[in-house]
Amino acid sequence: MTRHFLDLSDAGGDALAAMLNDARARKAARASWPKGRADPDAPLAGHVLAMVFEKNSTRTRVSFDMAMRQLGGSAIILEAGSTQLGRGETIADTARVLSRMVDAIMLRTDDHGKIEQLAAHAAVPVINGLTDASHPCQIVADLLTIVEHGKALPGLEVAWLGDGNNVLSSIIEAAGLLRFNVRIGVPEGFDAEPAFIAAARARGAKITVCRDPHKAAAGADVVITDTWVSMGQSGADARIAAMTPYQVDAALMAHAKRDAVFLHCLPAHRGEEVTDEVLDGPQSVVWDEAENRIHAQKSVLLWALKKL
Ligand code: CP
Ligand code: NVA
Repeated sequence: MTRHFLDLSDAGGDALAAMLNDARARKAARASWPKGRADPDAPLAGHVLAMVFEKNSTRTRVSFDMAMRQLGGSAIILEAGSTQLGRGETIADTARVLSRMVDAIMLRTDDHGKIEQLAAHAAVPVINGLTDASHPCQIVADLLTIVEHGKALPGLEVAWLGDGNNVLSSIIEAAGLLRFNVRIGVPEGFDAEPAFIAAARARGAKITVCRDPHKAAAGADVVITDTWVSMGQSGADARIAAMTPYQVDAALMAHAKRDAVFLHCLPAHRGEEVTDEVLDGPQSVVWDEAENRIHAQKSVLLWALKKL
């Protein structure tokens, strides 16, 4: 069976734990090396990844490209608008053609149904590089960052502040797979996706919705936020007005544990969802988190191509 990675549960908890271990080991083994040098075992030598972007990206684009180089393979970047997809060639036909030409496909798009369709017609692994529904690759990097900073995942208390968006959905999914707890501080009307919450609870995670941002942050090991206006969303003014009480500032961080870390998938909107003081402060691990996109993506690629 072709291994698609549309969401974290496609891999499951055991594979996710194996990815984190592999990412840590590979990262440690190449510390201080030039970033483009291949790992000695070059497990994806001769393999090519096609990346299709229907939305902007800095981290996902560069980290997947670097991940393929470090694994001994290479990547092709396709802006969807400049391909025949942009002129109406179907996703199914694109899947069939790319499957004959490359070894794996990554897609960043809006409607999650599009990536499901791509996977349904692809003979090679399809990886979700972000949809409106979820961002699983980001969360592999986030979990790697959290464990690197000395925090065990089972029983971990994670506080999410702001918008109940795609990144949060993947955090909630990870909570179910690896048994940690999430306190969601979001305003009414911007809630997390109920299906992700129900699935995580069914797997034994404690998922709590708090309208009071301070209660959400109280005693947390990890505080996470993201933009209040995701790519493609309208009504920015109303969203910003509703979410302003959920800004992560020094006063909010003071409610978390003293050794809590702050994560943000980036790009940040300084002065909106997070203040400079927190983003640039001692509890922020966002630059490690960004670098870890490379190491996380390597383990996702190895899993999808059955090398892990
Ligand atoms: N965090 C993230 O996915 O960043 P990009 O949008 O820059 O890829
Ligand atoms: N929630 C954001 C994440 C960007 C990496 C978005 O979808 O735009």
